[in-house]
Amino acid sequence: MLMIGMHEEILRKVTEKNTLISPSAWEYLESQDDPNSIVKGLLEKKNLPFPIGRDAIESYVEKGSGIEESVETTTELITETEGTASLCENIQVIRDITGNSTCTGVIDDFTKYFNNRYEKLRSILSKRRESNGIIDIASAKKRKGNAKVIAMVGDIHETNNGNKILQLEDPTGIMRGFISPGNPAFEKDLLEDEVILAIGSVWDKRKDYDVTLSIKDIIRPGVPKIRSQSHRDFKGKIAFIGDVHVGSDTFLKEEWNRFVEWINSDSEKAKDIKYIIISGDLIDGIGIYPNQEDELEIVDIFEQYREFAKMIKKLPKNIAIITIPGNHDIVRNPEPQPCLPEEVREMFQENVKFYGNPAFINIDGLKILMYHGRSINDLSDKLNHVDTDHPITAMREMMERRHLVPVYGEKTPIAPEKEDLLVIDELPDVFVTGHIHKTQVEDYHGTIMINSSTWQDQTEYQKMRDIQPDPAKVIVLDPASNQITVKQFT
Ligand SMILES: [Fe+2]
Repeated sequence: MLMIGMHEEILRKVTEKNTLISPSAWEYLESQDDPNSIVKGLLEKKNLPFPIGRDAIESYVEKGSGIEESVETTTELITETEGTASLCENIQVIRDITGNSTCTGVIDDFTKYFNNRYEKLRSILSKRRESNGIIDIASAKKRKGNAKVIAMVGDIHETNNGNKILQLEDPTGIMRGFISPGNPAFEKDLLEDEVILAIGSVWDKRKDYDVTLSIKDIIRPGVPKIRSQSHRDFKGKIAFIGDVHVGSDTFLKEEWNRFVEWINSDSEKAKDIKYIIISGDLIDGIGIYPNQEDELEIVDIFEQYREFAKMIKKLPKNIAIITIPGNHDIVRNPEPQPCLPEEVREMFQENVKFYGNPAFINIDGLKILMYHGRSINDLSDKLNHVDTDHPITAMREMMERRHLVPVYGEKTPIAPEKEDLLVIDELPDVFVTGHIHKTQVEDYHGTIMINSSTWQDQTEYQKMRDIQPDPAKVIVLDPASNQITVKQFT
């Protein structure tokens, strides 16, 4: 244990140098014979990090260095060739909740929210060839024989005989749906609240049940298979990163510094990068899960953002940095989430842009849907063929259902906005998520789907659940050629 007087003296010296010592670094100092002289020598170095972490002190004790060298290498490499003003002007926001929230917290908001979800998804479905001849539920209940309805799925349950019974609803009424095993519709993995085109035949009301649509086929809003896509004139490449988790004691500093060094280098591949998209969880936050404070190196959320801002300053200033928040960031929990608050934004330089989660943007004609990806967990819990080791499996479901949070009432809270901004009304050229700390890419019917890697090593929580992250990778897209490369910094 450090004596109290010595502890205060070190603290005073460190704060005079405008920095702090992280909790794990204090622990390390306590184990040393002469912490005072270690800190004295360390503080004579230039470019002290904020806060001073355990790594920096260990490195100083072992080699007598460790701060100046690692920081200066990257600082020297900073290029200030051209401004980002023109690049940032190329970015247009198509959809973002920031500044547009209508939520009042009234229960009635949810009715309006789900009505809007239904209308938006109905509009997508009604353009499908199979929707020819659709009728509303009120009319279907009066007719006999074949019928097609676009309905929101309510309660689903299986009978003792293995049949599925579900509730179908549209603004004109509610109808019972029935699906028997062996029928193609039976395999469709329906989720409550999704909007489908149900094709079948109407059964009359009987003693045991109400008027029923015996469903033979189910069509989802879906994604057309052939879509033309050319961005041959797109200038520059886009790098995708995410889940930086600054402030966590498992943040991968060395790997991040290697990335910074590479992107500042003369490498042709690095020089072509004009945009970096960060898909949320910029910092680790505080109070996100029980006992998180035991795994934090920076315990103040604003200090975490300040540290992140310093790290971002070391990236070339001619790159536009595009960010959205995640569930660890300092914004409201329910989705859609607005962009980070002004007191955080003002810590950053002009080349850093802040959008909400999700946000749909257009860069020079390239449409990019950015979503942090919390609903991936819910989809994996509900659907057998979706697993968090392969986040693309969840992204396919979002695309087919044309909704970013198709599961309601589980881990992903939703804010009942008047307009459902979680609907994928327009298909993007690029759809990026994060959250899962894996790295995956797939071309899905012309949309490039990306799940960005992380800069956080395996946490205690992940250890307990045997979750292996796939960290320190950068996915680089060349929209002009549709080429993708993955650069690894481990
Ligand atoms: Fe994360």
